[in-house]
Amino acid sequence: MSEFPKRRMRRMRASPGLRAARREARISVDDFICPVFVVEDEAAAGPVASMPGVMRHRLSELDREIETLVSLGIGSVLLFGVPAKKDATGEGAARDDSAAAQAIHRIRNATDRLTVMTDVCLCSYTDHGHCGVIRDSAASPVTQGGHRGVTIDNDATLDILARTAVAHASAGANVVAPSGMMDGAVAAIRSGLDAAGFTDVAILSYAVKYASSFYGPFRDAADSAPAFGDRRSYQMDPANAREALAEAELDLREGADAIMVKPAMPYLDVIRRVRDAFPSVPLAAYQVSGEYSMIKAAAERGWLDERAVALESLTAIKRAGADMIITYFAKDAARWLRDA
Ligand code: PBG
Repeated sequence: MSEFPKRRMRRMRASPGLRAARREARISVDDFICPVFVVEDEAAAGPVASMPGVMRHRLSELDREIETLVSLGIGSVLLFGVPAKKDATGEGAARDDSAAAQAIHRIRNATDRLTVMTDVCLCSYTDHGHCGVIRDSAASPVTQGGHRGVTIDNDATLDILARTAVAHASAGANVVAPSGMMDGAVAAIRSGLDAAGFTDVAILSYAVKYASSFYGPFRDAADSAPAFGDRRSYQMDPANAREALAEAELDLREGADAIMVKPAMPYLDVIRRVRDAFPSVPLAAYQVSGEYSMIKAAAERGWLDERAVALESLTAIKRAGADMIITYFAKDAARWLRDA
């Protein structure tokens, strides 16, 4: 094709009809998965200060939220349970009366129109806030943010994760989503689920999860900040992209039915690389708390147009290659798209 003045790119942008007809990436309510926080301690319920518009729900209030989600046409939720009591091992996560399990029951009894995905991790359930069981070992080469001699014991954590997944499946979860970045978690959960007869429960693995500072506001919502050190010995280094392909491949080989890249917007290149390397895999991206709160805060100051920026960010995540988007904008975006 010859160049200017024969070729003018602006012609195909000239009218709304042309722009719509040639559009490559489209977002719809079908893409969205809405995170839902449920607290066991009723006194802890209420708005999350660092995430305007996001609530910590008490169980008894969940029905209203379910109704809203269903009426907006949102098909899936990602459930986070916040327990009243924590302990050293995070055993509470595996209880069949955990806040998460009770919430699953409630959603199941209220509607058939919501797919229930659950976060499977120990960080809200451990008193130290790490995503696994900890072990003191002076000989350990691992440091947790300057803390030496404490290891997050990968293999000791797997059994609790598998039992947590089974508890969620027993309560009626459709999909379990291990987010703790423990090696072998997908395989352990798959064999736990299968042994318990839950062969139809899917695993959405947080396969590519970075040690990101964008999770700050979430840790207020889920009460899951590490009490010492950081998560860099188990979550990925933000500088790495090739490593993401290894993580994705391992989780798929262990039996993940779908995988996730998290966070989303600072890692669009990673979403694209994972999509290209695994063209057929269902791929989710998590627009995390910090991504959400930045847009909210700027919009509150009048510095950004919230609706336009949120929809642009979701479109960019879709364009990068994600099929599903976990986003705190799910309800608002569903309304914006409906009313557009
Ligand atoms: C639990 C978990 C985290 C998020 C999802 N699951 C926090 C973390 O790893 O520290 C973050 C989600 C968000 O920031 O919105 N491991």
